[in-house]
Amino acid sequence: MRAEITEKERVSAIKEAITIIRRNLPEYTYKCQDANSNGGIYKPIDNIEWTTGFWPGELWLSYLETGDEIFAHAAGILVTSFYERIKKHIAVDHHDMGFLYTPSCVAAWMIKRDAMAREAALMAADNLVSRFQEKGSFIQAWGAMGADDNYRYIIDCMLNLPLLYWATDETGDEKYRTIALRHTATCIANSFRPDYSSYHTFFMDKETGKPLRGETCQGYKADSSWARGQAWGVYGLALAYRHTGEHSYLDLFEKVSAYFMEKLPEDMIPYWDLIFQSGDEPRDSSSASIVACGFLDAADSYEKLQEYDKARKYRKAAKELLKAVYDTCMVHADESGINGLVKHGTYSKKSPYNTCTEAGVDECVSWGDYYWLEALVRLGGTWKSWW
Ligand code: GLY
Repeated sequence: MRAEITEKERVSAIKEAITIIRRNLPEYTYKCQDANSNGGIYKPIDNIEWTTGFWPGELWLSYLETGDEIFAHAAGILVTSFYERIKKHIAVDHHDMGFLYTPSCVAAWMIKRDAMAREAALMAADNLVSRFQEKGSFIQAWGAMGADDNYRYIIDCMLNLPLLYWATDETGDEKYRTIALRHTATCIANSFRPDYSSYHTFFMDKETGKPLRGETCQGYKADSSWARGQAWGVYGLALAYRHTGEHSYLDLFEKVSAYFMEKLPEDMIPYWDLIFQSGDEPRDSSSASIVACGFLDAADSYEKLQEYDKARKYRKAAKELLKAVYDTCMVHADESGINGLVKHGTYSKKSPYNTCTEAGVDECVSWGDYYWLEALVRLGGTWKSWW
């Protein structure tokens, strides 16, 4: 039987995380946190990466847990930076508007009714909508719109879509939701194989809009399952159900989740690609935390549907994953030489078959820290999701 994180461990993990976050405040209030640590330390950067929303997300979670205005104040300073970024169109020619603007600005609007944050998040939603390709019915992930080598979407985009549902709820304009639904339909039709493993990226035909082929950028090879891609699929489907009530999304969520769980090694920390289940390849602890968030979100949905066995099943699995992260990856506040929250994340690992540039292998990664804290806070049962 696998151990589950206890309430005592959850509370102590949040305390340790917030101690580290508080200590990091001087470093990342007027600068952003890099995507990954190097040798355990994140360097401060300008607001130009796709990942800079995660640190303010950690600040908002810390604020909600402690009520200490210092966290809200620091997050508020970053809201100005996010407003400037979208207003001036700095490093936003890609689809990662949800990762950027949901935990930073939607959170700021929900918690503090910060009007600048709302405006920034709506501009980001407009930017995301502008990347929709009618031919193929998808949001183009990267590069110049319509570029031959980038006529594709990636599975990660499922986490950018909640920004669009939020924008429709906020403005009453259905265009955001319609695009989210159309992209979801394309993703569901193409990104999952018959065994419910997933492609990282998927190309569409620019002339006909027909699906062409799956490939990978950050996974081991085109027909393997990049662990984080599968994790984005799990959490993205749980969120898609919550925003639409479309039960077939939950049915698919179960199958994609089962594939992820079956491919875990004994200690439950996934290798960076699910093709590996033993050996010395690096792990990606962030995938475990992302999936735990997805499981907790789905558990709430099953609860509302009165499908209590399923609610219990996914809450239990989430607690097992979090226990694994707690035991083997969590950074303790008294550890020296490391300023992240969770070890053993992998951003991009080069393989003979993929196209990524190697970065952040066996390091802390900013989304790994964020989703770990989100999962711990979620488990407390009172958090209102900004996704
Ligand atoms: N969305 C990019 C990544 O997960 O690395």
